[in-house]
Amino acid sequence: MIDTTYEAAKQDQQLAHAAPRLTHPTPCTEMPAYMTEVYDWAYVDPAWVRWLDHNLVVKTLLFCNDQRLMRRYLERIRPGMRVWQVAHVYGDLVQRAAQRTGPEGCFHLTDVTPIQIAHGRSKLDAMPWTRVIRQDAALHIAEPGETYDLICNFMLLHEVPDDWKRRIVDNMLAQMPAHGEVLFVDYHGPARWQPVRYILKLVNRLLEPFAHALWENEISHFASQPERYEWSKETLFGGVYQVVSVKHKTTR
Ligand SMILES: C[S@@+](CC[C@H](N)C(=O)[O-])C[C@H]1O[C@@H](n2cnc3c(N)ncnc32)[C@H](O)[C@@H]1O
Repeated sequence: MIDTTYEAAKQDQQLAHAAPRLTHPTPCTEMPAYMTEVYDWAYVDPAWVRWLDHNLVVKTLLFCNDQRLMRRYLERIRPGMRVWQVAHVYGDLVQRAAQRTGPEGCFHLTDVTPIQIAHGRSKLDAMPWTRVIRQDAALHIAEPGETYDLICNFMLLHEVPDDWKRRIVDNMLAQMPAHGEVLFVDYHGPARWQPVRYILKLVNRLLEPFAHALWENEISHFASQPERYEWSKETLFGGVYQVVSVKHKTTR
């Protein structure tokens, strides 16, 4: 059982810092090496995380596209649905998603980072139909007999190395029931006329080494068997962002 306090989270992180470099996802409490090597300041260090976990930060990072990107996800959630969000997101997105499923449904949030789990739990504590689970999105599996109607990956894929992208995409698709939907909201290759393209090029070079892969590849390219599914993509803000919906192919 993972403790939710900041102190416990800090201790867990110190252990993770001391852990040897990992090359493959491992179950539950191991933190992937890229989290401490690349994203320590953004998601791991509790002092930074406290400053960053606000709607205004998300709005700024997403060039004020936060609400329209979140709407693509939230509008799909109806009362009674079972939803898995594969990673924590700063601000109030997780509460808003959980409120939409309501107590007739369920909302499961996974994340690999102890401090993110602590923040997720503090946001969702008052909603007993939610669960916050410390697990790698590449490995999380619904409990036996349970499935998710909607599985959402909100701005995670660009932050993980390509082999993790493949594992996460494959795992999400493997968990999708016949009637279900998998949703990816993430970066995309911006149009050449879009000035933000040049800002993001620099950001990617300096801070986001795994993001450029989404400029060059469709998300379907990270799936082992893309042909088994229907893929539909919407791009926003001059191609900076994409919303990709995946469903099982319908048999006529
Ligand atoms: C969803 S992404 C980026 C979201 C966005 N930039 C924001 O405003 O929060 C960040 C989260 O992904 C989590 N994460 C990274 N790799 C993960 C993995 N393999 N499985 C689950 N969560 C992961 C991090 O711990 C962090 O909480």
